[in-house]
Amino acid sequence: MNQTKRPRRLRGNPVLRKMVRETRMDPSSLIYPMFLIEGENIKEEIPSMPGQYRYSIDRMGEKLEELADAGVSSVLFFGIPGHKDEMGSMAYAQDGIVQKAFAKAKKEVPDLYLIGDVCMCEYTSHGHCGILCGTNVDNDKTLEYLAKTAVSQVQAGADMVAPSDMMDGRVAAIRQALDGQGFLHTPIMSYSAKFASAFYGPFRDAAESAPAFGDRKTYQMDVHNRREALKEALLDVEEGADIVMVKPAMAYADLIREIRDSAPVPVAAYSVSGEYAMVKAAAQAGWIEEEQIFCEMAVSAYRAGTDIYITYFAKELADCMRRGMIG
Ligand code: PBG
Repeated sequence: MNQTKRPRRLRGNPVLRKMVRETRMDPSSLIYPMFLIEGENIKEEIPSMPGQYRYSIDRMGEKLEELADAGVSSVLFFGIPGHKDEMGSMAYAQDGIVQKAFAKAKKEVPDLYLIGDVCMCEYTSHGHCGILCGTNVDNDKTLEYLAKTAVSQVQAGADMVAPSDMMDGRVAAIRQALDGQGFLHTPIMSYSAKFASAFYGPFRDAAESAPAFGDRKTYQMDVHNRREALKEALLDVEEGADIVMVKPAMAYADLIREIRDSAPVPVAAYSVSGEYAMVKAAAQAGWIEEEQIFCEMAVSAYRAGTDIYITYFAKELADCMRRGMIG
């Protein structure tokens, strides 16, 4: 047999395999999402996300230091307020939960990069991502509140804001409001292609943010749509988004690639709560190898083209990258 082409030649030795690896990653591209709750001395496990906790502000330092030690240098804060109302007023209050957390973290862990999730759903009594007019989310009215929320987070110490509400025009509204306050250099990472996904279930338990009626399908994207995801991402770039995001990650790798090939900005992918919960549940049942699975999920997101990976496994992934399991 005269076979000249033998792809196995490049797989015969571990040094060589690593030399020809096409996807490289390191912990600097990881972002850890973290839940903060009003109160004192609280570190409570989220039942549908074993190993993930809600922290009161006085205890968040434990986690922040652990992350920094592992080489994870960015966190995304979500707040669970003590009080919710129709207008989500604790989302933009100067003594709101994330505002207090930003101020403290900026002071105590100045090297950590702090990102604020900008949305109303954790703060409204009805659990929708905006201000209601009857049973509809009023797009243009919501923009004012999102802009106020973003400004209040940056004033408190956030380094970047990440709007996740899916209102039309929010990136432009937030950019204008930040610039108006002199925050010309604060980047916006937009949740551009955010789908109306069942993968957010555990997050809604964690953040107590499930909508009280209806669903999010009038603002989050229909899971069937691909061209529309590209449209959303390009619109956000036009409005001034510095980074665009695809969410969830694992079931949407086609869109990570599509957007990466078309949008001239860095791309982020968010491996959401349901992805985490599935891995944990199957691992606890003894059906899969947890570490190998979350490593493979991360590699696939980077291979699809993501520059940034937002994941509840950030610390564990950073460890695996350092040990050379992946990366
Ligand atoms: C807030 C928000 C959600 C998530 C991130 N920001 C929930 C939602 O849209 O219902 C989901 C994150 C996750 O599932 O890990 N709008």
